[in-house]
Amino acid sequence: MNRNKLDINYQPIAWLGNRVKILDQTRLPSQEAYLETSDYREVITAIKELKVRGAPAIGVAGAYALALGALKIEAKNTSAYLTKLRSIAKAVASARPTARNLSWAVERMEKVARKDKAIERIKSALVSKAVKIHTEEAEATVRLSRFGAVLIKNGSVILTHCNTGPLATTGYGTALGIIIYAHKQGKKVQVYADETRPLLQGARLTAWELKKANIPVTLLTDSMAGYMMKQGKIDCVIVGADRIAVNGDTANKIGTYSLAVLAKENKIPFYVAAPASTFDLSLKSGAEIPIEERNMKEVTHFRGIAVAPGDVSAVNPAFDITPARYITAFITEKGIIKRPFAKGFENIE
Ligand code: MRU
Repeated sequence: MNRNKLDINYQPIAWLGNRVKILDQTRLPSQEAYLETSDYREVITAIKELKVRGAPAIGVAGAYALALGALKIEAKNTSAYLTKLRSIAKAVASARPTARNLSWAVERMEKVARKDKAIERIKSALVSKAVKIHTEEAEATVRLSRFGAVLIKNGSVILTHCNTGPLATTGYGTALGIIIYAHKQGKKVQVYADETRPLLQGARLTAWELKKANIPVTLLTDSMAGYMMKQGKIDCVIVGADRIAVNGDTANKIGTYSLAVLAKENKIPFYVAAPASTFDLSLKSGAEIPIEERNMKEVTHFRGIAVAPGDVSAVNPAFDITPARYITAFITEKGIIKRPFAKGFENIE
């Protein structure tokens, strides 16, 4: 993907032939620092620690992790090679359980590996596939953004949650991609960004990306969203997704469910933007989506500094499920899907 064409001058992930370069998102916005590695275990750690994050970007990083692991496997025959590859694939896929894009990418990589018998050819096919997944995922967000921009009127005020821009997708973004696209079309847009507790992806990353794109952004704490909606300050809510079940129930960053309920109460459209790789049509409802529980220190501490008494316990579910009934429409690279969702989902995978 030609990033100059996208007009984005930073890259969350780059493939350097035999190693991967990752922009460490935990250090943003104060530092633009990169890590480079040829060790798949370091990529898994980067995914777990949210150095690379956002469902589509996790999928791309996972594909590269598997490619790196595959390059270094030593095995006497193809069967032994594939067994070792399987165990790397399992480790990669389980790095973060909620984002469907990660298991989706790993499944596609493994399918490619099973197509050949010669180990050296499998290795190069896996590298090519990872690069292809990267390119296609980035391009999907550009198409998705173009479709979604149709919904944005000139002068719109949009509320968004977490971070769904180039950093989270390696392309334009999902929810943020739509906003960036509408802005590039010359529409006046204004964004309210939830700070997104506990790790502040909204404050640290969304505000950073919107500033870079010259789009007016105002930060609010997550708990201010209802007040702002009630005041009539918000025209629509757009969020991304980590996994979408066949009935339309959607997992996204913790706090999304509350926003959706508040949007319905205040008669504000609530849009979910996601590429096909986020849909998991094997799941009947959101009840089947695995929710990642993260370390409670992320709630009791910020960057190592305690913000609560030392012995207090905390919960830390990283995602919640928004029931389909709160969602106005899904925006995908194949178009906008309105009710009944099941009909629109038929052509998604
Ligand atoms: O925990 P994170 O930062 O990976 O969570 C990211 C989100 O919840 C995003 O909203 C989602 O992945 C959609 S990204 C385009």
